[in-house]
Amino acid sequence: MTLDDLVELLVGGATLTGATLSRPRATGTDEPPRITVQPVTLKRGKRWAVRRHYGSRTTDENLDDAALGRLLRASIGKNYRQALLHAPDADWQVLAGRGEPRILRKPPTRPRAAGVHDRVKRHVLPEGEPVPFLVELGVQTPDGRVRAQRRSKFRQVNRFVELVDDIVPALPDGPVRVVDFGSGRAYLTFALHDLLTRVHGRKVDILGLDLKADVVSECEALARRLRADGLRFELGDIAAADLVGVDLVVSLHACDTATDAALDRAVRARAEVILAVPCCQHELFGQLENETLRPLLRHGTLKERFVADVTDAARARLLELAGYDVQVVEFVPLEHTPKNVLLRATRTERPGRDRDRLAAEYRAFADALGIEPALERLLGDLVPTGG
Ligand SMILES: C[S@@+](CC[C@H](N)C(=O)[O-])C[C@H]1O[C@@H](n2cnc3c(N)ncnc32)[C@H](O)[C@@H]1O
Repeated sequence: MTLDDLVELLVGGATLTGATLSRPRATGTDEPPRITVQPVTLKRGKRWAVRRHYGSRTTDENLDDAALGRLLRASIGKNYRQALLHAPDADWQVLAGRGEPRILRKPPTRPRAAGVHDRVKRHVLPEGEPVPFLVELGVQTPDGRVRAQRRSKFRQVNRFVELVDDIVPALPDGPVRVVDFGSGRAYLTFALHDLLTRVHGRKVDILGLDLKADVVSECEALARRLRADGLRFELGDIAAADLVGVDLVVSLHACDTATDAALDRAVRARAEVILAVPCCQHELFGQLENETLRPLLRHGTLKERFVADVTDAARARLLELAGYDVQVVEFVPLEHTPKNVLLRATRTERPGRDRDRLAAEYRAFADALGIEPALERLLGDLVPTGG
């Protein structure tokens, strides 16, 4: 098999689940030491997310089949001496010396596309290297060691950064406009700024909004101390926020229906991506009624857990009805919320037929449980729930 055949088989046949190009022939050139490729679904269809890794910085580009084919043919062997291409049934290793590249077929190590659940855990914020905002916030010592009592915070920040890293290819070109609703002490807002600017080299306009004046002014002072360009904090209520032109809306641990207000604002602003980690989902506790579920609902503790899941399932479906693809991903528990999920929503075009089916399912679900969630009321006519 030639390299052309292999590219045709994997890219033309759409079976490529990931690729890494490494061992560049020339150092000191513009070629990054490593290029990785993974499939990604965008609003305009399936694309290949190509990431170029330059030390601690990366750049991203989304290519169609033809452009990825050209990149692989032009780079493997000529610029890179090694490539590993994954498909469900095999890994293909390409080794290039002086002559034609050697192509070796190996047992598969990545049977499915790297998705949320099978992704290998990798820390974007490495231990042992000081990251200025983590040092300032007391998570790391000035020489980069993670303080023992802040280890869980470090894990949480890292997990968040990993999850955001996955959606960077879905963000439009140009400066990234972000609003973080209920930014609080802003560990995660600073992490977002660090990821987008230092790691991805993007220009940003990030606004952290919170109700607490003292917290907002402390965060603003810290942003200025860190010279965090494009990061600012303002006092304000999520429900009254008037968003125009925003790419990414983040709402992390905003209590109870504050999350719904954030989702409503984000949908109305037509944000490309929404990341929400709900917290204290109490709203439906007093509403939820179902005879068949009596054995579960009669126990307050079980009912509380169940209500949290019902609330997030309803939010996920309402976001789908508002035109988003939604994934529910495990996050890291906070001290006061043992269960923790992230709703990750990416704006898409959904055919009307699909919407009707999703709406009918939602109606049956909400009616069976006797609930009318805050988000359904807030979005109102914007989503067809059949209610
Ligand atoms: C539990 S903290 C989470 C802070 C941060 N997002 C995090 O995950 O580490 C929730 C924050 O949301 C803020 N908040 C709650 N309701 C809000 C509202 N309606 N408008 C603005 N901020 C709000 C609170 O003041 C608090 O700082």
